Amino acid sequence: MDIRIIKNPSPSEKPDENALGFGLTYTDHMFIMDYNRSVGWHNARIVPFGPLEIHPAAVVLHYGAEVFEGLKAYRAADGTVRLFRPLDNIRRMNDSAERLCLPVIDEDDAMQALVEFVRLEQDFVPHKSGTSLYIRPFMIATEANLGLHGINEASFIIIASPSGSYYKEGISPVSIMIETEDVRAVKGGTGYAKCGGNYAASTRAGERAEKLGFSQVLWLDGVERKYIEEVGSMNVMFKIAGKVITPDLIGTVLPGITRRSILEMLRDEGYEVEERRISVEEIINALENGTLEEAFGCGTAAVVSPMGKLVFNGREYTINNNEIGPLTAHLYDTLTGIQWGRLEDTKGWVLTI
Ligand code: PLP
Ligand code: COI
Repeated sequence: MDIRIIKNPSPSEKPDENALGFGLTYTDHMFIMDYNRSVGWHNARIVPFGPLEIHPAAVVLHYGAEVFEGLKAYRAADGTVRLFRPLDNIRRMNDSAERLCLPVIDEDDAMQALVEFVRLEQDFVPHKSGTSLYIRPFMIATEANLGLHGINEASFIIIASPSGSYYKEGISPVSIMIETEDVRAVKGGTGYAKCGGNYAASTRAGERAEKLGFSQVLWLDGVERKYIEEVGSMNVMFKIAGKVITPDLIGTVLPGITRRSILEMLRDEGYEVEERRISVEEIINALENGTLEEAFGCGTAAVVSPMGKLVFNGREYTINNNEIGPLTAHLYDTLTGIQWGRLEDTKGWVLTI
Protein backbone atom coordinates (compact mmCIF):
# COMPACT_ATOMS: atom_id res chain seq x y z
CA MET A 1 0.00 0.00 0.00
CA ASP A 2 1.28 3.47 -0.89
CA ILE A 3 0.98 6.01 1.91
CA ARG A 4 1.31 9.64 0.85
CA ILE A 5 2.89 11.82 3.52
CA ILE A 6 2.21 15.54 3.87
CA LYS A 7 4.34 16.83 6.72
CA ASN A 8 2.98 19.35 9.18
CA PRO A 9 4.71 22.65 8.34
CA SER A 10 4.38 23.91 11.91
CA PRO A 11 5.34 21.13 14.36
CA SER A 12 4.10 21.66 17.89
CA GLU A 13 6.06 21.80 21.15
CA LYS A 14 6.11 18.45 22.92
CA PRO A 15 3.79 18.52 25.96
CA ASP A 16 5.14 18.60 29.52
CA GLU A 17 5.66 14.93 30.45
CA ASN A 18 4.86 15.69 34.09
CA ALA A 19 1.34 16.89 33.32
CA LEU A 20 0.06 14.73 30.50
CA GLY A 21 -3.27 13.41 31.80
CA PHE A 22 -5.02 11.00 29.45
CA GLY A 23 -6.01 11.77 25.86
CA LEU A 24 -5.73 15.56 26.10
CA THR A 25 -3.03 16.54 23.61
CA TYR A 26 -2.32 15.14 20.15
CA THR A 27 0.61 14.57 17.84
CA ASP A 28 1.30 16.60 14.69
CA HIS A 29 -0.17 14.16 12.16
CA MET A 30 -2.98 11.71 11.53
CA PHE A 31 -3.36 8.77 9.20
CA ILE A 32 -6.47 8.68 6.98
CA MET A 33 -7.67 6.19 4.41
CA ASP A 34 -11.04 6.18 2.66
CA TYR A 35 -13.38 3.44 1.53
CA ASN A 36 -16.15 3.14 -0.93
CA ARG A 37 -17.87 -0.01 -1.97
CA SER A 38 -16.81 0.19 -5.62
CA VAL A 39 -13.05 0.83 -5.18
CA GLY A 40 -12.45 -0.51 -1.67
CA TRP A 41 -9.91 1.17 0.60
CA HIS A 42 -7.90 3.90 -1.12
CA ASN A 43 -6.11 7.22 -0.71
CA ALA A 44 -3.95 6.25 2.28
CA ARG A 45 -2.24 9.35 3.60
CA ILE A 46 -0.60 10.88 6.64
CA VAL A 47 -1.51 14.54 6.92
CA PRO A 48 -1.19 17.36 9.46
CA PHE A 49 -3.44 16.79 12.49
CA GLY A 50 -6.60 18.87 12.32
CA PRO A 51 -10.39 18.94 12.09
CA LEU A 52 -12.13 16.58 9.69
CA GLU A 53 -14.59 17.80 7.13
CA ILE A 54 -17.71 15.67 7.32
CA HIS A 55 -21.13 15.83 5.65
CA PRO A 56 -23.86 16.74 8.16
CA ALA A 57 -25.85 13.72 6.97
CA ALA A 58 -22.90 11.30 7.41
CA VAL A 59 -24.16 7.98 8.77
CA VAL A 60 -21.81 8.08 11.77
CA LEU A 61 -23.35 11.33 13.02
CA HIS A 62 -26.87 9.89 13.07
CA TYR A 63 -26.64 6.16 13.57
CA GLY A 64 -23.33 5.85 15.38
CA ALA A 65 -21.59 3.60 12.84
CA GLU A 66 -18.15 3.81 14.45
CA VAL A 67 -15.59 1.39 15.87
CA PHE A 68 -12.29 2.13 17.54
CA GLU A 69 -9.20 0.63 19.08
CA GLY A 70 -6.76 1.65 21.76
CA LEU A 71 -3.11 0.68 22.01
CA LYS A 72 0.07 2.28 23.24
CA ALA A 73 3.60 2.95 22.02
CA TYR A 74 6.08 2.54 24.88
CA ARG A 75 9.55 4.11 25.14
CA ALA A 76 12.13 1.59 26.40
CA ALA A 77 15.20 2.65 28.38
CA ASP A 78 17.37 2.23 25.25
CA GLY A 79 15.18 4.79 23.46
CA THR A 80 13.40 2.31 21.18
CA VAL A 81 9.65 2.54 20.64
CA ARG A 82 7.56 -0.56 21.11
CA LEU A 83 3.98 -1.65 20.39
CA PHE A 84 2.25 -4.39 22.39
CA ARG A 85 0.37 -7.07 20.40
CA PRO A 86 -0.75 -4.60 17.69
CA LEU A 87 -2.06 -7.33 15.41
CA ASP A 88 -4.56 -8.26 18.13
CA ASN A 89 -5.94 -4.72 18.02
CA ILE A 90 -6.22 -4.83 14.24
CA ARG A 91 -8.04 -8.16 14.38
CA ARG A 92 -10.41 -6.93 17.08
CA MET A 93 -11.13 -3.79 15.05
CA ASN A 94 -12.10 -5.95 12.10
CA ASP A 95 -14.35 -8.07 14.35
CA SER A 96 -16.01 -4.87 15.62
CA ALA A 97 -16.32 -3.53 12.05
CA GLU A 98 -17.97 -6.74 10.93
CA ARG A 99 -20.58 -6.39 13.71
CA LEU A 100 -21.37 -2.80 12.69
CA CYS A 101 -21.38 -3.53 8.92
CA LEU A 102 -18.32 -1.34 8.45
CA PRO A 103 -15.71 -2.55 5.93
CA VAL A 104 -12.82 -4.65 7.22
CA ILE A 105 -9.21 -3.69 6.42
CA ASP A 106 -6.50 -6.00 5.17
CA GLU A 107 -4.38 -6.81 8.24
CA ASP A 108 -1.08 -6.04 6.50
CA ASP A 109 -2.35 -2.66 5.30
CA ALA A 110 -3.64 -1.75 8.76
CA MET A 111 -0.32 -2.80 10.32
CA GLN A 112 1.64 -0.78 7.74
CA ALA A 113 -0.51 2.27 8.46
CA LEU A 114 0.03 1.89 12.19
CA VAL A 115 3.78 1.34 11.97
CA GLU A 116 4.44 4.16 9.48
CA PHE A 117 2.32 6.55 11.51
CA VAL A 118 4.03 5.70 14.81
CA ARG A 119 7.45 5.89 13.17
CA LEU A 120 6.68 9.41 11.96
CA GLU A 121 5.38 10.47 15.40
CA GLN A 122 7.97 8.63 17.49
CA ASP A 123 9.37 11.80 19.06
CA PHE A 124 5.99 12.19 20.76
CA VAL A 125 6.43 8.92 22.67
CA PRO A 126 7.16 10.28 26.16
CA HIS A 127 10.11 9.14 28.27
CA LYS A 128 8.85 9.51 31.82
CA SER A 129 8.05 6.32 33.72
CA GLY A 130 4.40 5.29 33.32
CA THR A 131 3.78 7.50 30.29
CA SER A 132 3.22 6.36 26.72
CA LEU A 133 1.79 7.42 23.39
CA TYR A 134 -1.85 6.31 23.37
CA ILE A 135 -2.87 5.41 19.82
CA ARG A 136 -6.49 5.59 18.75
CA PRO A 137 -7.35 3.98 15.39
CA PHE A 138 -11.02 4.39 14.47
CA MET A 139 -13.40 3.89 11.60
CA ILE A 140 -16.49 5.94 10.74
CA ALA A 141 -19.26 5.64 8.15
CA THR A 142 -19.00 8.85 6.12
CA GLU A 143 -21.62 8.67 3.40
CA ALA A 144 -24.44 11.19 3.38
CA ASN A 145 -27.60 9.15 3.73
CA LEU A 146 -30.35 9.46 6.31
CA GLY A 147 -31.89 6.17 5.22
CA LEU A 148 -30.91 3.04 7.12
CA HIS A 149 -28.89 0.92 4.71
CA GLY A 150 -25.64 -0.97 4.52
CA ILE A 151 -22.53 1.18 4.59
CA ASN A 152 -20.95 2.25 1.30
CA GLU A 153 -18.43 4.86 2.40
CA ALA A 154 -16.12 5.02 5.38
CA SER A 155 -12.83 6.42 6.64
CA PHE A 156 -10.18 4.79 8.77
CA ILE A 157 -8.21 7.26 10.85
CA ILE A 158 -5.37 6.97 13.36
CA ILE A 159 -4.61 9.70 15.88
CA ALA A 160 -2.32 9.57 18.91
CA SER A 161 -2.04 11.28 22.26
CA PRO A 162 0.96 11.40 24.62
CA SER A 163 -0.60 10.20 27.87
CA GLY A 164 -0.03 9.50 31.53
CA SER A 165 -2.19 7.27 33.68
CA TYR A 166 -5.88 6.85 32.94
CA TYR A 167 -7.10 7.03 36.51
CA LYS A 168 -6.10 9.94 38.69
CA GLU A 169 -5.29 7.28 41.30
CA GLY A 170 -2.49 5.86 39.06
CA ILE A 171 -1.67 2.42 40.45
CA SER A 172 -3.46 3.14 43.75
CA PRO A 173 -6.71 1.23 44.29
CA VAL A 174 -9.86 2.57 42.63
CA SER A 175 -13.37 2.54 44.08
CA ILE A 176 -15.99 0.93 41.88
CA MET A 177 -19.78 0.95 42.09
CA ILE A 178 -21.73 -2.12 40.96
CA GLU A 179 -24.39 -0.77 38.59
CA THR A 180 -27.88 -2.03 39.27
CA GLU A 181 -30.03 0.18 37.00
CA ASP A 182 -28.51 0.61 33.54
CA VAL A 183 -27.07 -2.28 31.54
CA ARG A 184 -24.24 -2.22 29.04
CA ALA A 185 -24.78 -5.26 26.86
CA VAL A 186 -26.89 -8.29 26.09
CA LYS A 187 -26.12 -11.42 24.10
CA GLY A 188 -26.61 -10.74 20.40
CA GLY A 189 -25.88 -7.05 20.92
CA THR A 190 -22.61 -5.19 20.51
CA GLY A 191 -20.97 -5.83 23.90
CA TYR A 192 -17.97 -7.62 22.41
CA ALA A 193 -17.40 -4.90 19.78
CA LYS A 194 -15.43 -1.77 20.52
CA CYS A 195 -18.00 0.65 19.13
CA GLY A 196 -18.67 4.18 20.29
CA GLY A 197 -22.34 3.48 21.02
CA ASN A 198 -21.44 1.11 23.88
CA TYR A 199 -19.56 3.91 25.58
CA ALA A 200 -22.19 6.58 24.91
CA ALA A 201 -24.85 4.40 26.51
CA SER A 202 -22.58 3.80 29.52
CA THR A 203 -22.03 7.46 30.26
CA ARG A 204 -25.10 8.00 32.42
CA ALA A 205 -24.17 5.29 34.92
CA GLY A 206 -20.52 6.41 34.88
CA GLU A 207 -21.50 10.00 35.67
CA ARG A 208 -23.79 8.92 38.48
CA ALA A 209 -20.96 6.86 39.97
CA GLU A 210 -18.45 9.71 39.62
CA LYS A 211 -20.78 12.08 41.44
CA LEU A 212 -20.83 9.62 44.32
CA GLY A 213 -17.01 9.50 44.35
CA PHE A 214 -16.41 6.29 42.40
CA SER A 215 -14.04 5.92 39.46
CA GLN A 216 -16.34 3.80 37.31
CA VAL A 217 -19.14 1.24 37.40
CA LEU A 218 -18.92 -2.53 37.29
CA TRP A 219 -21.55 -3.80 34.89
CA LEU A 220 -23.82 -6.73 35.56
CA ASP A 221 -25.35 -8.91 32.82
CA GLY A 222 -28.24 -7.30 30.99
CA VAL A 223 -30.78 -10.10 31.51
CA GLU A 224 -30.67 -11.33 35.09
CA ARG A 225 -28.54 -8.48 36.46
CA LYS A 226 -26.85 -11.10 38.52
CA TYR A 227 -23.53 -11.83 36.87
CA ILE A 228 -20.40 -9.70 36.78
CA GLU A 229 -19.31 -8.50 33.32
CA GLU A 230 -16.68 -5.74 33.19
CA VAL A 231 -15.87 -2.15 34.12
CA GLY A 232 -16.30 0.72 31.63
CA SER A 233 -12.71 0.61 30.40
CA MET A 234 -11.34 -2.67 31.70
CA ASN A 235 -11.94 -6.35 32.20
CA VAL A 236 -12.03 -7.59 35.78
CA MET A 237 -10.41 -10.45 37.69
CA PHE A 238 -10.92 -11.68 41.25
CA LYS A 239 -8.57 -13.78 43.33
CA ILE A 240 -10.75 -15.94 45.55
CA ALA A 241 -9.20 -18.60 47.80
CA GLY A 242 -6.07 -18.74 45.65
CA LYS A 243 -7.85 -19.03 42.28
CA VAL A 244 -8.12 -16.26 39.71
CA ILE A 245 -11.62 -15.96 38.30
CA THR A 246 -12.75 -13.75 35.42
CA PRO A 247 -16.01 -13.55 33.44
CA ASP A 248 -15.95 -15.69 30.31
CA LEU A 249 -16.38 -14.17 26.85
CA ILE A 250 -19.97 -14.84 25.88
CA GLY A 251 -20.43 -11.90 23.53
CA THR A 252 -21.27 -9.27 26.12
CA VAL A 253 -17.78 -8.40 27.32
CA LEU A 254 -14.93 -6.83 25.36
CA PRO A 255 -12.26 -9.47 24.65
CA GLY A 256 -9.44 -7.46 26.18
CA ILE A 257 -5.90 -7.92 24.96
CA THR A 258 -4.60 -7.17 28.44
CA ARG A 259 -7.03 -9.78 29.81
CA ARG A 260 -5.76 -12.37 27.32
CA SER A 261 -2.13 -11.56 28.15
CA ILE A 262 -2.68 -11.74 31.91
CA LEU A 263 -4.53 -15.06 31.67
CA GLU A 264 -1.59 -16.46 29.69
CA MET A 265 0.91 -15.11 32.24
CA LEU A 266 -1.08 -16.58 35.14
CA ARG A 267 -1.41 -20.01 33.51
CA ASP A 268 2.33 -20.02 32.69
CA GLU A 269 3.05 -19.32 36.35
CA GLY A 270 0.87 -22.23 37.44
CA TYR A 271 -2.08 -20.29 38.83
CA GLU A 272 -5.46 -21.91 38.72
CA VAL A 273 -7.56 -19.72 36.44
CA GLU A 274 -11.28 -19.94 35.74
CA GLU A 275 -13.13 -18.16 32.95
CA ARG A 276 -16.79 -18.50 33.87
CA ARG A 277 -19.89 -16.71 35.04
CA ILE A 278 -19.42 -15.08 38.43
CA SER A 279 -22.48 -13.91 40.30
CA VAL A 280 -22.34 -10.74 42.28
CA GLU A 281 -23.60 -12.87 45.18
CA GLU A 282 -20.46 -15.02 44.95
CA ILE A 283 -18.30 -11.90 45.15
CA ILE A 284 -20.22 -10.49 48.13
CA ASN A 285 -20.04 -13.87 49.91
CA ALA A 286 -16.29 -14.02 49.28
CA LEU A 287 -15.93 -10.49 50.62
CA GLU A 288 -17.92 -11.37 53.71
CA ASN A 289 -16.17 -14.65 54.45
CA GLY A 290 -12.73 -13.21 53.78
CA THR A 291 -11.82 -15.41 50.79
CA LEU A 292 -11.75 -12.52 48.29
CA GLU A 293 -8.04 -11.80 48.39
CA GLU A 294 -7.61 -9.35 45.52
CA ALA A 295 -9.61 -7.78 42.71
CA PHE A 296 -8.30 -5.78 39.77
CA GLY A 297 -9.24 -4.43 36.39
CA CYS A 298 -7.03 -4.67 33.31
CA GLY A 299 -6.93 -2.81 30.04
CA THR A 300 -4.66 -0.82 27.75
CA ALA A 301 -5.50 2.56 29.24
CA ALA A 302 -6.05 1.24 32.79
CA VAL A 303 -3.03 -1.19 32.70
CA VAL A 304 -3.56 -3.29 35.87
CA SER A 305 -5.68 -1.38 38.32
CA PRO A 306 -6.42 -2.68 41.82
CA MET A 307 -9.99 -2.36 43.03
CA GLY A 308 -9.91 -1.24 46.66
CA LYS A 309 -13.59 -0.66 47.27
CA LEU A 310 -16.77 -2.11 45.80
CA VAL A 311 -20.19 -0.71 46.50
CA PHE A 312 -23.31 -2.80 45.94
CA ASN A 313 -26.83 -1.57 46.74
CA GLY A 314 -25.41 1.18 48.91
CA ARG A 315 -23.16 -1.12 50.97
CA GLU A 316 -19.43 -0.54 50.77
CA TYR A 317 -16.94 -3.41 50.89
CA THR A 318 -13.19 -2.98 51.20
CA ILE A 319 -10.83 -5.33 49.39
CA ASN A 320 -7.38 -6.13 50.79
CA ASN A 321 -7.52 -3.12 53.14
CA ASN A 322 -7.80 -0.85 50.08
CA GLU A 323 -4.19 -1.69 49.22
CA ILE A 324 -2.67 -3.17 46.09
CA GLY A 325 -2.33 -6.94 46.61
CA PRO A 326 0.81 -8.97 45.89
CA LEU A 327 -0.56 -10.71 42.78
CA THR A 328 -1.94 -7.46 41.34
CA ALA A 329 1.44 -5.78 41.91
CA HIS A 330 3.27 -8.72 40.36
CA LEU A 331 1.04 -8.68 37.27
CA TYR A 332 1.44 -4.93 36.93
CA ASP A 333 5.23 -5.24 37.16
CA THR A 334 5.40 -8.16 34.71
CA LEU A 335 3.08 -6.64 32.12
CA THR A 336 4.63 -3.18 32.21
CA GLY A 337 8.09 -4.80 32.36
CA ILE A 338 7.44 -6.54 29.03
CA GLN A 339 5.81 -3.46 27.50
CA TRP A 340 8.59 -1.05 28.47
CA GLY A 341 11.37 -3.56 27.77
CA ARG A 342 12.55 -4.07 31.36
CA LEU A 343 11.71 -7.78 31.11
CA GLU A 344 12.41 -10.16 28.28
CA ASP A 345 9.54 -10.59 25.81
CA THR A 346 9.53 -14.40 25.67
CA LYS A 347 6.13 -14.48 23.92
CA GLY A 348 6.85 -12.30 20.91
CA TRP A 349 4.22 -9.81 22.08
CA VAL A 350 6.29 -6.71 21.41
CA LEU A 351 6.89 -5.11 18.03
CA THR A 352 9.81 -2.70 18.02
CA ILE A 353 9.24 0.14 15.59
N1 PLP B 1 -13.38 -3.51 28.43
C1 PLP B 1 -13.71 -2.33 27.88
C2 PLP B 1 -15.14 -1.94 27.86
C3 PLP B 1 -12.71 -1.51 27.32
O1 PLP B 1 -13.01 -0.33 26.77
C4 PLP B 1 -11.36 -1.94 27.37
C5 PLP B 1 -10.31 -1.12 26.78
O2 PLP B 1 -9.97 -1.23 25.66
C6 PLP B 1 -11.08 -3.19 27.93
C7 PLP B 1 -12.11 -3.95 28.46
C8 PLP B 1 -9.69 -3.74 27.94
O3 PLP B 1 -9.27 -4.12 26.65
P1 PLP B 1 -7.75 -4.07 26.23
O4 PLP B 1 -7.01 -4.85 27.25
O5 PLP B 1 -7.70 -4.72 24.89
O6 PLP B 1 -7.35 -2.65 26.20
C1 COI C 1 -8.46 1.50 26.16
O1 COI C 1 -8.10 1.02 27.23
O2 COI C 1 -7.71 1.56 25.20
C2 COI C 1 -9.82 2.00 25.96
O3 COI C 1 -10.21 2.10 24.85
C3 COI C 1 -10.66 2.43 27.08
C4 COI C 1 -11.15 3.83 26.86
C5 COI C 1 -12.42 4.04 27.60
C6 COI C 1 -10.11 4.84 27.25
